[in-house]
Amino acid sequence: MRTNTSYQAKQFDLSSLTGISDRTLDMHFRLYEGYVKETNRLTEKIAEFLKDERVDQEEMPAYSELTRRLGFEYNGMVLHEYYFGNLTKHGGGDTAHDSVFYQAAVLSFGSYETWKADFVGIGKMRGVGWAICYQNPANDRLSNHWITLHEVGNVAGFTPVLVMDVWEHAFLLDYKPAERAKYIDAFFSNIDWDAVEVRLLNR
Ligand SMILES: [Fe+2]
Repeated sequence: MRTNTSYQAKQFDLSSLTGISDRTLDMHFRLYEGYVKETNRLTEKIAEFLKDERVDQEEMPAYSELTRRLGFEYNGMVLHEYYFGNLTKHGGGDTAHDSVFYQAAVLSFGSYETWKADFVGIGKMRGVGWAICYQNPANDRLSNHWITLHEVGNVAGFTPVLVMDVWEHAFLLDYKPAERAKYIDAFFSNIDWDAVEVRLLNR
């Protein structure tokens, strides 16, 4: 069986961010590379089971475990690419009032401030995961969601447009565990709104 699913870790030109140290970024890139590696490794291991074009009953426990882990690793890889992809060293804080994202936030939430209150609120939720703003391609509306770990809570078919990692590894070298709000402020000052708008327009 041919499995054409070998991924390469992407490179991100990120350093000198505001409030997110290069040390954190370097560690985080290594962590991301681990997700890429595991995605490839698990895909290959699952392919071994499929060589005879069937999953035998006795293979089921191991096959199931690998497949569940693949969901974790795959989403871990992809979400980190979205996350690094919506950061820039030339970020300028909140998006401009005449931007496509601003208008989409007003359309969906009544105001940009309400959208932000929801997104930041989700980011402050206790637990390990992500705050993600998605666009529903069926009606262009934005909605914010809490994703537990990497794979629980993603909305099928929705387009991630702004992705914020709120696992503690994203900020623990720079802030105390209870200072997640400071990291969220730093995240906002580094958002690449141009990248976010490309996602909105290319859905
Ligand atoms: Fe992360």
